Amino acid sequence: MSIYSPAQDWFKAPSGGERAWIGLALLWCVVLTLAMPYWHFKGKQNSTGESYAVEPMKFMERVDRFVQTNKVGEEMGTAVVEPSPGGDAYLQAQMWRWSPILKLRKGQTYRLHISSLDLQHGFSLQPVNMNFQVLPGYDHVLTVTPTEAGEYHIICNEYCGIGHHTMTGKIIVDE
Ligand code: CUA
Repeated sequence: MSIYSPAQDWFKAPSGGERAWIGLALLWCVVLTLAMPYWHFKGKQNSTGESYAVEPMKFMERVDRFVQTNKVGEEMGTAVVEPSPGGDAYLQAQMWRWSPILKLRKGQTYRLHISSLDLQHGFSLQPVNMNFQVLPGYDHVLTVTPTEAGEYHIICNEYCGIGHHTMTGKIIVDE
């Protein structure tokens, strides 16, 4: 609340430079609004938004089955799993780990199912910097085709409690 009331004719229509800046800001709003649908169709690193409702316990059962059938090794107590090319792969987030470690082949396409067993986590794939929300109750399906061999690290980029900073995972891409 101001101490003094404004003068009756306080409003002055913008003019000159102020007018130009308002125009530029509005134009930029329009550009960014159009960029969202544009990148959805043209960008190569965007999710199609495919997701399904799933009970966390049901998702865990699918992950367990996936691990049992495709396990090829173990690293520090985490299963290393190699899904069949063209098939389904599963990644489970929970406080505070990503599992299993996935072993994919370059140039092959996978349907990667990601979900959380407890609360919201953030899937951030480094160093390519792809980011997706991971929510309990939703099976988020990403269609992925790795284009470069190497080791990719998953970090959690959504604060999820005391062990958030330790929540890392791994995807290995072979030639
Ligand atoms: Cu999971 Cu932060």
